[in-house]
Amino acid sequence: MQANDLKSWQQKAQAQTELVLSRLLPDESQTPARLHEAMRYVTLGGGKRLRPLLVLAAAELGEADETALAHALAAVEMIHVYSLVHDDMPAMDNDSLRRGKPTCHVQYDEATALLVGDALQTQAFEVLSRPSGLAPARQLQMVAVLAKASGSLGMAGGQAIDLANVGKEMNQTQLEQMHGLKTGALIRAAVALGALSCPDLDDAALARLDEYAQKLGLAFQVIDDVLDCEADTVTLGKTAGKDADADKPTYVKLMGLVEARAYAETLVAEAVALLQPFGEAAARLRGLAEFVTARKH
Ligand code: IPE
Ligand code: IPE
Ligand code: MG
Ligand code: MG
Ligand code: MG
Repeated sequence: MQANDLKSWQQKAQAQTELVLSRLLPDESQTPARLHEAMRYVTLGGGKRLRPLLVLAAAELGEADETALAHALAAVEMIHVYSLVHDDMPAMDNDSLRRGKPTCHVQYDEATALLVGDALQTQAFEVLSRPSGLAPARQLQMVAVLAKASGSLGMAGGQAIDLANVGKEMNQTQLEQMHGLKTGALIRAAVALGALSCPDLDDAALARLDEYAQKLGLAFQVIDDVLDCEADTVTLGKTAGKDADADKPTYVKLMGLVEARAYAETLVAEAVALLQPFGEAAARLRGLAEFVTARKH
């Protein structure tokens, strides 16, 4: 696929994501207005929307149920945004800038940021459990996939490992586990949810896609570590150089900038190779994998 084709598809998919999220989130006029305003503030109008894009790209491998697909892309982004809101709080990374705007606890207050996370997390599952054209068992599987990816054996667990290792050395195996959980788990869930939205995709296809997603998820966080070090705050839309300042365990700390980027590129090449049996239908998944290492923020 041409880079331009991917870019225009990405823009369309981002606009679709924005619209779906905007419709699903409670209106600001609804009580409690301040909480709803804050939920919309953190969720709308920003972000690369990589996870929703992965949901859509994975669904191109089969015949998706469009309602289930829309719910899935919104649910995974809601969980992701909740994770960002909490990640930025003073008790975690203590960041004041996110997606080019003041973080939730800075714009509102800490209690609101906690509640925004709580509310987005639960709304994700409420949305995912709404009626769709899928068989109930398939839909239940989607709920379980997202729940596991978000909890202590997924994103939240990875965040706990991250915080427990500030100022400590981690070897490559340990870092891989941490990155695989804190970031990889939701990326894997996004790909799985897209595939599960297609009743015609079987377990073998799901397993191969999951291998792709594991490599991609790890590569994504390795590049996040690289960009934290390499890019500037305006480009990132979040404070650059935070990892070194906070003495976070990262791939840059473990292997240096050049090797970390090379490692991410190897992972992406391996991820792309896994898509080979899917042929042209996987063009967008391939394009998104390449975007993960090419991105500037
Ligand atoms: C940032 O994720 C946090 C990580 C899991 C590394 P993204 O880089 O996808 O952030 P947005 O959604 O584009 O803002
Ligand atoms: C966060 O990793 C992963 C999440 C679960 C949010 P980081 O702490 O490196 O993410 P950024 O750099 O703040 O976006
Ligand atoms: Mg963090
Ligand atoms: Mg952070
Ligand atoms: Mg980071």
